This record gives sequence, C-alpha cells and structure tokens, in this order.
Amino acid sequence: MATQQSTSPQNSPVTVVGLGPMGLALAEALLKQGHPLTVWNRTPQKADDLVTRGAQRPATVAEAVSASPVTIVCLNDYDTLYEVLAPAADALRGRALVNATALVASAGVPAATFAELAVNWFMPMGVDSTLVEQAPDLDKANYPGEFGTMEMDLNALAHITRTCVEQGVDARQPALMKELAESAIEQGYSGKNYFAVFEVFKKEAQSA
Ligand SMILES: NC(=O)c1ccc[n+]([C@@H]2O[C@H](COP(=O)([O-])OP(=O)(O)OC[C@H]3O[C@@H](n4cnc5c(N)ncnc54)[C@H](OP(=O)(O)O)[C@@H]3O)[C@@H](O)[C@H]2O)c1
Repeated sequence: MATQQSTSPQNSPVTVVGLGPMGLALAEALLKQGHPLTVWNRTPQKADDLVTRGAQRPATVAEAVSASPVTIVCLNDYDTLYEVLAPAADALRGRALVNATALVASAGVPAATFAELAVNWFMPMGVDSTLVEQAPDLDKANYPGEFGTMEMDLNALAHITRTCVEQGVDARQPALMKELAESAIEQGYSGKNYFAVFEVFKKEAQSA
C-alpha cells in the first residue's frame, strides 16, 4: 500500500534541471527557503556551490527527477528540454513538472498567455514607473543585482533576438540591448542590474 508522505510546502523536496543564471537563481532561492534540493545540469560543476550547501547532485537526470515530487526545468530552449528530459520519461510519470524554459511564440505559446506571466517579472529592468524610483541609484552608480543580473539579461536578450529572427520580426532593438549588456559585462558589471549600462554610456561619452 502506498504511504502518503506529509510534507508542508515549505519542506517539500524540489529538483531543478538546468543551472544557467536563471536556474541557479531558482535553486539558490529554494535552498534558502529550506527545501531539500536536488539538481542536475549538463555541466555538473555548476552545482558545486549548491552541493557544498546541502543540495544533492545525482549522476542522471532520471535520478534527479525521482528525488522530488516537483521538478523545475530551466533550459535554454525546447529542443534541449526534450533531449534532456527524454531519459527521465518514466521518472516523470506521476510527478509535477514546472517548465521555466522561455515561453515564446516559436514554441507555440500565444503572446497573451506569455504576457500575463511575464508582466512585472520578466526582465524587471523594463522602462516604466520604476525608472523614477531607480533614478537616485543611477546618480550613485548603485545597480544592485538581486532581482536580475546583467548576465541573466544577456541570456534573455539573446533569446529575444533569436526569436525575433525566427519569427521574421525586426531584431535591431533587442540586438542593440544585447550588445550593450555584453559591453557592460566586459567592463565588470555581470552581477549588476541592467541599469549599469549607464556606466558604459558614461565611459563612451568621456572618451568621445
Ligand atoms: N535570464 C533571464 O533573465 C531569464 C528570465 C526569464 C526566463 N528565462 C528563461 O530561462 C531559461 C534559462 O535561462 P538562463 O538565463 O538560465 O540560461 P540559458 O543560457 O538560456 O540556459 C542555460 C542552461 O541550458 C543548458 N543547456 C544549453 N544547451 C544544452 C544542451 N545542448 N544540452 C543540455 N543542456 C544545455 C545549460 O547547461 P550548461 O550549464 O551545461 O551549459 C544551462 O543549464 C531560458 O529559457 C530563458 O529564456 C531567463
């Protein structure tokens, strides 16, 4: 007879598959909240720090999925997602899969569905009323990255640029934002938020 395990949402085990900047941020947050964490990534070394702090790192994705009732998958695109999860098909049966891999039109997700999910979450450096709140930080060159780093934005911009190209949409604007993020990272702002591109602009202006 199957036994029902009583776990509160706070201590429920979670598996994260994919440890890019977004997957790592999710894994860190889960560990901080006290969830028993299991991780799997193509490049296992990316989990070194998480393992030091208590995360499990089994050798196979099937073992990782089997370790928790919920798996969050956060990979670069859908082709990779299907390839990575294929060996875990049996393990996934009866378990919840939360897909944090980008939901884009190329993947057949309607824009309205994506927009609902994305508003106030995706690339939080978007220009809106928060710019007014951020302005004092621009003056102080203070660009905290706790809600999203330049490295994460670069990945997101690479995805957006690629999707624009795939969908035949003008990609110049995201491509320029991506280029600016690359410059900022070269100049040491990878852990800062996107507003740090202001420093790139200032440097350009000084050398002009
Ligand atoms: N960055 C953001 O601000 C942001 C915001 C919202 C949503 N997202 C979405 O979240 C997802 C993850 O984004 P990310 O920024 O964390 O990084 P990413 O560069 O989009 O994805 C990196 C992850 O994909 C894995 N990967 C790439 N190619 C692979 C392959 N051929 N086989 C197996 N694994 C492969 C990487 O493994 P390795 O470590 O081994 O290379 C790593 O785990 C994307 O779909 C992105 O659009 C990102």
